[in-house]
Amino acid sequence: MQNIITYKKIGHIALVTINNPPVNAMDFKTRLALSDAIDQLNSDNKIKAAVLICEGRTFIAGADISEFDNLPFKDPWLPDVVQKIEDANKPVIAAIHGSALGGGLEIAMGCHFRCAVPSAKLGLPEVTLGLLPGATGTQRLPRLIGVDKALDMMLTGKPINAKQAIEEGLIDKIIEDELQEGAIAFAKEILEKQIPIRRLSKTKIDKTNVTTELFEKYRQRNNKTACGFFAPEKIIQCVEAAVDLPYPESLQVEDNLFMECLNSDHSRGQRHLFFAEREIARIPDVPKDTAIRNINRVAIIGAGTMGGGIAMNFLQANIPVTLLEIDQEGLQRGIDIIRSNYAGQVKKGRMEQTHMDQYMELLSGSTAFDNISDVDLVIEAVFENMEIKKEVFKKLDQVCKPGAILASNTSTLDLDVIANYTKRPEDVIGLHFFAPANIMPLLEIVRGKKTTKDVIATAFKLSRSIRKVGVLAGVCFGFIGNRMFLPYVREAELMMLEGVSAERIDRVACNWGMAMGPHAVTDLSGQDVFFKIVDGWKDHPDDPAFFRVCKALFELERYGQKTSKGKYIYEGRKAISDPKVANIAQQEAEKLGIEQREISDDEIIKRLLCAMINEGALILEEGIAIRSGDIDVIYANGYGLPRYRGGPMFYADLIGLKQVYDDINEFRDRYGNRYWTPAPLLEQLAKQGKTFSEWSQHK
Ligand code: 3HC
Ligand code: NAI
Repeated sequence: MQNIITYKKIGHIALVTINNPPVNAMDFKTRLALSDAIDQLNSDNKIKAAVLICEGRTFIAGADISEFDNLPFKDPWLPDVVQKIEDANKPVIAAIHGSALGGGLEIAMGCHFRCAVPSAKLGLPEVTLGLLPGATGTQRLPRLIGVDKALDMMLTGKPINAKQAIEEGLIDKIIEDELQEGAIAFAKEILEKQIPIRRLSKTKIDKTNVTTELFEKYRQRNNKTACGFFAPEKIIQCVEAAVDLPYPESLQVEDNLFMECLNSDHSRGQRHLFFAEREIARIPDVPKDTAIRNINRVAIIGAGTMGGGIAMNFLQANIPVTLLEIDQEGLQRGIDIIRSNYAGQVKKGRMEQTHMDQYMELLSGSTAFDNISDVDLVIEAVFENMEIKKEVFKKLDQVCKPGAILASNTSTLDLDVIANYTKRPEDVIGLHFFAPANIMPLLEIVRGKKTTKDVIATAFKLSRSIRKVGVLAGVCFGFIGNRMFLPYVREAELMMLEGVSAERIDRVACNWGMAMGPHAVTDLSGQDVFFKIVDGWKDHPDDPAFFRVCKALFELERYGQKTSKGKYIYEGRKAISDPKVANIAQQEAEKLGIEQREISDDEIIKRLLCAMINEGALILEEGIAIRSGDIDVIYANGYGLPRYRGGPMFYADLIGLKQVYDDINEFRDRYGNRYWTPAPLLEQLAKQGKTFSEWSQHK
């Protein structure tokens, strides 16, 4: 095995190289080896300066996140290593390529000088893991680039590039040519010019313009962009301490608050999603090296709400798209919407006109299937009607070249039935985008019974090319996301019949962290859309109360935002409560003989979540989702569940499956077993004291 750290002498310069694939994360062994290398450097009298550099695709990408569940950290912990580098008796220069992130940038800030290649990225993304930069980052960054910019970088977590980094003083030099050579030359220059060593912990913070208003500005921004998250406020407190207290004392504040963040459920949830999002593409029976098909041209059938949005994803990935519609008028409308969407972005300064022109160049339209015979992928996004989809797929089977992938964006129809309308069901797959398709990051990749492995592997590769988070789902009504969302909305609807207002239910859901409450979401998608979905579901529960309020609103043509009336009244996009809706619910309840009663906030949230989690357990045991983490990724990326909850299945693991099981049993005792029979997997794991995550790892 290769050494994690090598120490090589090049004249009077020591080259300290870290090699800990894949991303040189600072695990215990690497910290120990780096600490030893600094001892060696200090005692090496022939050496005048050192360059700290990394092998492989990147500089240090941070502390090793997988160690965060096994506390206490083994010594030396990262802040001690950073301090040891800073205390070195000769200049140490960080030479950065790839990404210097989190603990990686903190190590670089322990060094006395920093140089980087032009493509390097530097950042403190800890906030995205529910953490703060706890290896002295909250103390050193404000000293290096100023309080304002440091807060901005740490609170957004967004990395900056080398050009910005040099402008802000985060690095000292950009190395245009070979990094190692350039960094050694830079070290020699420092020695020759006798540039003084800069030790950040000894540097004073520039307090010009640092006022309470400055911190207030960031607090207000947090309220808007990170409401409910735990770590952002702690980051501000660390920087306030850096400004107000002597270094050793403010460092202690950072250490305490870092441990608070680390031990918070928020961080556990966000760390879980970090790994879950990297695991989604691992499909047990689809090897990593499965050959994929080339996708150079795409056709989209149907230029409506979804077709247009889907097209934009491919255009922005520089893949030519042909839109196909029934007639010229529909086609023109679809193309015009795409154009005006891009023009809006240009107007807002979010897109360059040249990019818009380039994307529109890549777009063509047709009303004839014969014109798409040479495409590599077709995505069907016509009306949600099996007869129409049947005609479309029969036609595709006739015209498309052999090897073309035939995908459907259906949200509820049986993909296996659709696939069997072709003579090549092995080439058929579901690509279920979420509205608005050009913005929502989620993509459910639906595997039919006969879909081949290379088609699945290609779909995953494609999802990355168009910057979507692809998650594999099996075939069932609603796949993973919508299948679990229906019971959640079902309970929200039933509680209205029991006398709880839509706004209260939504408020409780939002207080728990949902971006929107269930009723506001159904108004956004449309009560008509929801009614048609449940009405068209052949296996829908034989229950007159099922989606009863939705049905009543549908009959009154209160479709939601699109008609300015639904469960709320709308002034523009602003939702205003409407007492008539409670009356409608009450009248329907009377017809059904449902008693109105007092329901606590605690019951509201439990009913919403337990309904969702129980369905998730069924989805897992049926093999519709591979792992509980996949479900969590779907909910964090497509349904507005806050990342700090880690997803519904992780949340269930966290509060304990026994608790969820007991709650469901309590609901069964009160409401009967139609909706409240605990899923067998949930019952089994609750009795064994296990979690969905454990089951997913070892099934
Ligand atoms: N710790 C442990 N594992 C890590 C890791 C880390 N910091 N960063 C990445 N990995 C793992 C991934 O899980 C993945 O493992 P897998 O192959 O088994 O799935 C592998 O490294 C490759 O990662 P990616 O698939 O993400 O590779 P990319 O090339 O797409 O991206 C990257 C590289 C930009 C470095 C990206 O991995 C990344 O953003 N990493 C996390 C950076 C980060 O958040 N750092 C802060 C850590 S917390 C910290 O430092 C606390 C300190 O302040 C005390
Ligand atoms: P839409 O009604 O906005 O657009 C459908 C388009 O298909 C229309 O422009 C229509 O003219 C065209 N079309 C119909 N038959 C055609 C044919 N034979 N050939 C060519 N074009 C034809 O519908 P929307 O909302 O875009 O939905 C499309 C599909 O996407 C449906 O299967 C739906 O379930 C699914 N979906 C919809 C979502 C949404 O939020 N709207 C979300 C996810 C999936």
